[in-house]
Amino acid sequence: MAGRRHRALKGPSGQPRDDPRSWPAGALVILVGASGCGKSTWAAQRFQPHEVLSSDAFRAMVAGDQADQSATADAFRLLHAAARARLRRGLLTVIDATNVTTAARGSLLRLARGAGRPAVAVVFDVPLERCLANNARRPDRQVPESVVRRHVGQLAGARAALADEGFAIIHVVGAPEVEPR
Ligand code: GTP
Ligand code: MG
Repeated sequence: MAGRRHRALKGPSGQPRDDPRSWPAGALVILVGASGCGKSTWAAQRFQPHEVLSSDAFRAMVAGDQADQSATADAFRLLHAAARARLRRGLLTVIDATNVTTAARGSLLRLARGAGRPAVAVVFDVPLERCLANNARRPDRQVPESVVRRHVGQLAGARAALADEGFAIIHVVGAPEVEPR
């Protein structure tokens, strides 16, 4: 996929395309990565809180607990509705969820297409060991190790297909951007 990470190295204004601020203003930015890989941390360092729609925040909203998996369907219904409303207004919107399955990405890609907005994938190429170590040190909540392993496996299987799913830009976040502390 290396050669397909970006359609062009420079955006229309000459900025490098791996700078999130050079991405189209009204894009749907879809984070793709295992639990514990650092998605929420990465997004919080680059975007305003209102630009990031997190599945955890929507679970907390509907169930009072960001880890309550029984709230997933309701949480994603609301997350999709919020994303649709923002995209229709031309606002850049970041989806902070694992999105490691084709189905999860597909529903978001359809949403972007329906709103006439480009979709950007931010793929976290973080080794399993780093995800597990991050997860083990989390102060807030820890995800079962088996879940992290499953995510990493799903993502590995999806990497080739992802290049043909219809993203305008595929930005890969690698080890240098997610350093051990
Ligand atoms: P989920 O929400 O479960 O999907 O995980 P996530 O991908 O959003 O991971 P998150 O950003 O919450 O990071 C998980 C843990 O790793 C947190 O305790 C972070 O502080 C820590 N972390 C995130 N990025 C880095 C990093 O670059 N280096 C190190 N050492 N820790 C990090
Ligand atoms: Mg997170």
